[in-house]
Amino acid sequence: MEHPKYEQTLVIVKPDGVQRSLIGEVISRYERVGLKLVAIKMVIPTEAHVEAHYTLDPNWMRITGEKTIKGYKDKGLLPPSEDPLEITRVVLASLKKYLTAGPVVAMIWEGAHAVKIVRKLTGGTEPLTSDVGTIRGDYVLDSYSMSDLDVRSVRNIVHASGSVEEAEMEIKHWFTETEIQKYRLIQEQIIYDVNLDGIKE
Ligand code: CDP
Ligand code: MG
Repeated sequence: MEHPKYEQTLVIVKPDGVQRSLIGEVISRYERVGLKLVAIKMVIPTEAHVEAHYTLDPNWMRITGEKTIKGYKDKGLLPPSEDPLEITRVVLASLKKYLTAGPVVAMIWEGAHAVKIVRKLTGGTEPLTSDVGTIRGDYVLDSYSMSDLDVRSVRNIVHASGSVEEAEMEIKHWFTETEIQKYRLIQEQIIYDVNLDGIKE
């Protein structure tokens, strides 16, 4: 088995994150936990690239629709539809506009439990209920009800892969092999090495 320290995840600072000058803030949150940045670039994606990104997982449309319906019901609100796929069709159309509105910063972060750690620091999809201390909880005040009312995406600053399988597909979708660096950070010795040798003088 490959050592857990090689797990990778894809993060995208979405156009609202770039426009709000939060690129550095987002990067610093993943850096300070001990993850390693192994690829980064700024691009304006095409609508086709965005649609392909969100439909890499054939279950994404159903799961996202169900999650949205639950988000409404947990607050005692009526969802716009009871059909998860109908909800996500609208979401996907909005996402194509949202993510092509301006430059985004795509990154690959590497380290133990990279996918789960990044999701934890990023926070839940809907900023209204994202935990305090997470990126989405600390920097955004958006909600499903407000974004649906205005027929637009929930603006939540960052995308982060939802699972290891999703991360593998998304990384291939955004980066070529040659854009990904293989290197060692000095701090990895303290984070991962079995013995803390070489500290004492
Ligand atoms: O980004 P995350 O994995 O947390 O959520 P998702 O369910 O995979 O949805 C992808 C993105 O679609 C979200 O980050 C939102 O920007 C957007 N979305 C939306 O605008 N309205 C919804 N009801 C659900 C998602
Ligand atoms: Mg997702």
